[in-house]
Amino acid sequence: MTRRPIIFGNWKMNKTPAEAKAFFDGMAGYVTGEEAAEYGVGVPFVDLDVAVKNAGALSVGAENCNELDSGAYTGEVSVPMLKEIGITYCIIGHSERRTYYNETSAHCAAKAKRLFASDITPILCIGETEAEYDAGKTEEVVRTQLKESLEGLTAEEVGKIVLAYEPIWAIGTGKSADVNTAEACCKLCRDTVRELYGDEAAESVRVQYGGSVKPTNIKEYMACADIDGALIGGASLKVDSFKELVDATK
Ligand code: PGA
Repeated sequence: MTRRPIIFGNWKMNKTPAEAKAFFDGMAGYVTGEEAAEYGVGVPFVDLDVAVKNAGALSVGAENCNELDSGAYTGEVSVPMLKEIGITYCIIGHSERRTYYNETSAHCAAKAKRLFASDITPILCIGETEAEYDAGKTEEVVRTQLKESLEGLTAEEVGKIVLAYEPIWAIGTGKSADVNTAEACCKLCRDTVRELYGDEAAESVRVQYGGSVKPTNIKEYMACADIDGALIGGASLKVDSFKELVDATK
């Protein structure tokens, strides 16, 4: 089974719509969709419309969604809203959302289920804290997060999800996981999917590494058997850097 690699930016709370437009203008024509890998970017809600209209062959993702369709949930955005404007990916369970906004694995499972019902692909983030890493608990934490966040999905859905293994200590710190650790943890994600959902799901699920990925180190990660892409924060914000990420993985 060949899995198409997926390189995805995560802008977090950066860029106004005008800044987003400038980014896509700068990227215009650079990604054609014919590359071996798929490229995309997760952007703030208010930038989504500009992104969909200007992203060309880049995929566009939201950075969060609510699992319910409508109602009295001030400040939330539903999956039907994302669907109507043409969004095809949604990041869920990012460690910043788990840490600052109490997003749990149970929320992730509900969001993933709702996203699949609208044919939007979830990019589900999992990963351990520095304390858990130091205590040798990575395997246990990753397994538990995966088991709980995938609860209720069918094997077919799990096969289509994108998993982003992001050790929290590597996010935004410049301290990326060494390649062997990243590969071992991405393999752990795949093996966990195999145990829970079978071979077919395990062979088709795409597993990204995330955490201080840059144009200078992305190649080493992409060369690993169980790493099918990257989720990239800081290095996805500037056009030049994004182009370098594309060049390094073409
Ligand atoms: P970083 O962020 O590339 O800036 O470390 C990664 C992420 O949070 O997805």
